[in-house]
Amino acid sequence: MDDFKRRDFIRLSALGFASIALQLSSISTYAQKANANLGKWDANTLINWDAFLERLTRLAKTQHQLPWNQRQYTEGVKQLLLQCNFPEFANVKKEIASYENKRPNWFESATLHYETDFQVSLFQFEKGEYIPHHDHPDMTGVLNVVSGSILAKNYNLEQQLTSTRKVVKDGRSTVMQKCVIRETSNEVLNTGDVGLLTAHEGNIHSIMPNEFTQLADVFTPAYAHDTKAKWYDVNEDGYYQGQNHLFEAEFENAELSARK
Ligand SMILES: [Fe+2]
Repeated sequence: MDDFKRRDFIRLSALGFASIALQLSSISTYAQKANANLGKWDANTLINWDAFLERLTRLAKTQHQLPWNQRQYTEGVKQLLLQCNFPEFANVKKEIASYENKRPNWFESATLHYETDFQVSLFQFEKGEYIPHHDHPDMTGVLNVVSGSILAKNYNLEQQLTSTRKVVKDGRSTVMQKCVIRETSNEVLNTGDVGLLTAHEGNIHSIMPNEFTQLADVFTPAYAHDTKAKWYDVNEDGYYQGQNHLFEAEFENAELSARK
């Protein structure tokens, strides 16, 4: 009798689950209906903006299930980006059409989507508009080269050094601290390629566009008002103490700078 009840319960649970699944699928119906490529969906199906956002929203929720597997998440975002044709998205087309090189020697950016869990940004660079080494505190970043080509270098923080010095920057007294970073990748990414970083792997990077380049970048979580990225001056003239892939770098230590 108990067994029967249990089976019954399981069957009811399965029905309950089916109805929840139906409701969930109706939520994504809007995105699917809006998709220009209706029909069979597989890894090669190009998806539209609404379907991209719907899937990304679902994926990004995994950050709240601890421990969060960031490597798996960034791989998932990469696969999703590979199914997108960004220049064909209406909102991206609009940004691209209205592009003006307003800031000499610096990229232009536009936020395509923003919510606390993640943001999607479009970056447009003239050739040589270099972004020096910086980090992404407690974030993952997945960048897709929409057009053009970049040299992307990624690093991990290897060691904090005790050496500090005071400097005056823009009339402000700051404390610079030295550290050692390890290069984890150094690669040219061409149109269609995707680069990844997580909070723990390759979180510091620099980007050099080899020509006019457009990047779509997914940051998870999104930048917040209190996100404080560090910028690093890296001595790339040689390896730190002759050790392969290690470089000495210097950054502003905000905590020490704030002390009088
Ligand atoms: Fe970055």
